Amino acid sequence: KQYRVAVIPGDGIGREVVPAALRVLAAAAKRFSFALATSDFDFASCDYYDKHGSMMPADWEKQLRPFDAIFFGAVGDPRRMPDHVSLWGSLLQMRRTFDLYCNLRGTRLIPGVPCPLRDPGKIDMVIVRENTEGEYTEMGGKLFHDTDREMVVQETVMTRQGVDRILEYAFTLAASRPAKHLTSATKSNGIALTMPYWDSRVAAMSARFPDVRVDSMHIDALCAAFVSRPASFDVVVGSNLFGDILSDLAPALTGSLGLAASGNIDPTRRSPSVFEAVHGSALDIAGKNVANPVGQIEAGALMLRHLGEEAAADAISKAVDAVLGRGDAAELTRDLGGKGSTTSLAEAVEKELLSA
Ligand code: NAI
Ligand code: MG
Repeated sequence: KQYRVAVIPGDGIGREVVPAALRVLAAAAKRFSFALATSDFDFASCDYYDKHGSMMPADWEKQLRPFDAIFFGAVGDPRRMPDHVSLWGSLLQMRRTFDLYCNLRGTRLIPGVPCPLRDPGKIDMVIVRENTEGEYTEMGGKLFHDTDREMVVQETVMTRQGVDRILEYAFTLAASRPAKHLTSATKSNGIALTMPYWDSRVAAMSARFPDVRVDSMHIDALCAAFVSRPASFDVVVGSNLFGDILSDLAPALTGSLGLAASGNIDPTRRSPSVFEAVHGSALDIAGKNVANPVGQIEAGALMLRHLGEEAAADAISKAVDAVLGRGDAAELTRDLGGKGSTTSLAEAVEKELLSA
């Protein structure tokens, strides 16, 4: 089986962690007998902007649409241009144009990575965030500017299609996992229209997935429970805002925010999904071969899972755990207390993967 992958390294450490992760992906392809046909793109970077006056070419959609997935590094260089120009001109265009309505972020306890919790238990959860509507809209406005009656209104939009499709994805994912447990983030005790609607759609979808155990929790209590009993969660689904908050909180609990990966997914597969590390372009450490490649490697695992290569995805995460768990300073990057480099850590994971 062969998959076509568009590779967009972008800015800063994106150009270092992407090639490092690609060698791990190549090793996985070798071991599990599939092929990745990659094509490199230089757009969605500030260098491209300097040369062409825009972040991406006018026909970017036509160029990227034929691919099975997009492997994305990071974009942004605040010294050269404001983030709203670089990010809105690239990544956010892809999310919107390709209707990547599902934002997926997995969090697990990785041995050897310092966890801020004293007694964390076995944390292994996935946050599913609605990525296209909800609280993040441009609907609303300001009235009575600069008077003492000044007011501003910001609407929340929930469509039946938009809510149902993210819930269906979350239920399907929960049904595929051993615990078959879904937690829905709500706030229907305070937000009186949209959140009760969300809850009613959860109840309706639940009837179609009798195997999945569903809990509904208010976002405030849910945040508290993430801290006090994180190991009791499996799949957690939330609106755009609630999902955004939870998807930073979850990896922070395991100490792995810098090692986390995220997928911007179109589950209908009409468009290529975008896989990236959670961190940004980290210009303070760029060009020194010291960036930790694990977030990008895990993004690669997430991409393989989406493409249907589950065994390869599991093997990559297992290899990462083995390398981080043995804590050899010569292999680990500085942020993990090691003396190694981007290359040495990626090579260690590659070797572990091929020797398993
Ligand atoms: P950042 O994530 O790039 O860096 C934050 C801090 O974490 C820095 O001190 C950095 O050195 C460290 N760090 C990040 N990744 C690391 C890694 N792999 N290994 C070791 N240390 C790492 O966030 P920051 O500085 O706020 O943003 C820099 C640029 O990246 C901005 O232009 C921002 O908009 C952009 N950005 C882009 C994202 C994307 O492409 N999806 C996501 C987040 C930020
Ligand atoms: Mg966020």
